[in-house]
Amino acid sequence: MNPGEELDAIAAEVAVCTDCKLHRSRKNAVPGEGPADAELVFIGEGPGFHENEQGRPFVGAAGRFLEELLANIGMSREEVFICNVIKCRPPGNRDPQVDEIQACSKYLDRQIRAINPKVIITLGRYSMARYFPNARISTIHGKARVVNGRLVMPMYHPAAALHQPALRRVVEEDFALLPDLIARGQQISSPEDKPPADPEQLSMF
Ligand code: URA
Repeated sequence: MNPGEELDAIAAEVAVCTDCKLHRSRKNAVPGEGPADAELVFIGEGPGFHENEQGRPFVGAAGRFLEELLANIGMSREEVFICNVIKCRPPGNRDPQVDEIQACSKYLDRQIRAINPKVIITLGRYSMARYFPNARISTIHGKARVVNGRLVMPMYHPAAALHQPALRRVVEEDFALLPDLIARGQQISSPEDKPPADPEQLSMF
C-alpha cells in the first residue's frame, strides 16, 4: 500500500471506529487531511463543534488562525497534514480522556508512519504529551527536539492564543521558526517506530 492508500484506509477505519465511547456521540469522525507527502504534520487536540459537523479538522476559529499562521510563513493548509490526537469530538468539547487517547493512538501512529514528515508540530498539551509526557508547554514551546529520530516542535494551541491575546505573538514567533526547521528536518530521516530514545540522545535545536 502506498502512503496515500494507507491514509485513505486509516480514514475509512476511523469513520466506522467504535473503539471508545466517543463514537456514540459523534456526528462525523475527523481522521485528518492533507497530502500523503506533507513535510509538516500538525497534531491538535480533538474535533470541536464545526469539525464534528463537517468531518474535517480545524475548520472553526482556531482553524482560521492556523491558516493565517501558515500564510505568514508562505504556506497553505493544502500543503500540510492536519489531524488530532483523538478523531471524534468529546461531548461539550471536554478534554480528551486517557482511554480515548489510547484507543485512538494507533491511527495517529499509522498516519505519521505513512506520511513520514520532516517535522511534527504539536498544538497544545495533549499532542505535546505524546512526545514530551512530563513537560510544561510554557517551558518547551518553540523548542524543537528530535524524538525517536523525528523532529517534533511543541507549540501552543491556536485556540489558546485566541483566548489569551498575549500568546498570539508567541505563537507567531514559534511559527516563524518552521521554515528553518523544515530544512534541518531534511537531514533526519529515520522512522519513528524505533525503540524509545534515551533522553541522552534527545538533541535540542
Ligand atoms: N481544535 C483542535 O484541537 N482540533 C480541531 O480540529 C479543531 C479545533
